[in-house]
Amino acid sequence: MPRAASRVGLLGTETALDVLVKARAVEARGRQVIHLEVGEPDFPTPGHIVEAGVRALRDGYTRYGPPAGSPGLREAIAEHLAQRGVRANPEHVLVTPGAKPNLFYGFLATLSPGDEALVPDPGFPIYASMVRFCGATPVPVPPRLDQGRALDLDVLERAITPRTRMVVFNSPSNPTGAVVPEADLQRLAALADRHDLWVMADEIYRRIRYGADAPSIAALPGMLERTILVDGFSKAYAMTGWRLGWGLFPPALAPHAVRLVINSNTCTASFVQEAGIAALRGPQDVVDAMVARFRTRRDAIVARLARIPGVRCHEPAGAFYAFPDVRALPLSAAALADRLLQEEAVALLDGAGFGPGGSGYLRLSFATSLESLEEAADRFSSLVARL
Ligand SMILES: Cc1ncc(COP(=O)(O)O)c(C=O)c1O
Repeated sequence: MPRAASRVGLLGTETALDVLVKARAVEARGRQVIHLEVGEPDFPTPGHIVEAGVRALRDGYTRYGPPAGSPGLREAIAEHLAQRGVRANPEHVLVTPGAKPNLFYGFLATLSPGDEALVPDPGFPIYASMVRFCGATPVPVPPRLDQGRALDLDVLERAITPRTRMVVFNSPSNPTGAVVPEADLQRLAALADRHDLWVMADEIYRRIRYGADAPSIAALPGMLERTILVDGFSKAYAMTGWRLGWGLFPPALAPHAVRLVINSNTCTASFVQEAGIAALRGPQDVVDAMVARFRTRRDAIVARLARIPGVRCHEPAGAFYAFPDVRALPLSAAALADRLLQEEAVALLDGAGFGPGGSGYLRLSFATSLESLEEAADRFSSLVARL
């Protein structure tokens, strides 16, 4: 038998997808599982966006398009970025099938074997996986979970070495829901400048925030030159299955990123991009309405979790994840997640799936109905009462 290349052994995965498979097995035994493991809005894509996609199909948007994206969508994205203070040149905007490819392109374009990249721990597991795949070393940077803070700049600064090439951060954060405040962004920008680092700013949850708006780090002076800004339509417009995202690349990296597209997926589906234009140029109250419902659910689940003895939960300032600390309970978070699924038919994630820094925590998505969340909290309580 021929052997697989050793590099594929460096790739990690997302535990949400593994838990989903286990949950399906529980369902096959006849139990109705409450799904709090997957990170996607439960709302349908707004009607005017769907219509634009269907119309585009009928109008013949069924052929290859420019690798970097349609000029119309790149222009709309640049205008959208201007609203968050980012002076983006559409030439440096890359349209991709989902936000994720921008992470991959960004790492591939910047990291060489021997380099180090600072990644949040706990954090989206794909960062460390992709960094490793590039032959570089992910260096975990723990946040201040006790204070609900997404970044600990003191720890981050101490982790910088002559090999550090990049800092990755995600605000609002998956899995913690924490948001990086403006003062921390300023300090991070100064560090990136002083140590000549690339910054990977994953803003996929930017539109889903419950408190004050913070600027994008790409809006700070000099940061367009060193920031890869990643965002997309999946979460803000409930479009996870459409696969539509974008990246804003520094001028020096944009041509490399386009070549990576040419060498991988050629372009993003043409009709899907028309739906993206409708999303950005159409009414934005659909986004506000979804965020309002997420807020109600957040308040409900955080309040319910707080009533369970041994469980502590910070109020997430963004995204749709609660990240309760269960270290005071008499069994590990992994065992708890497992028993919740097997005994109570509640699927959620062990925080350790987001890096060692997530040990002792659970991640649950509140992108589901209020009734399901309340029922899940009741089942969680009854399991805890039996421990
Ligand atoms: C932090 C983070 N970044 C990126 C992505 C990928 O988004 P997309 O579905 O648009 O590729 C996700 C999806 O879960 C995410 O949680």
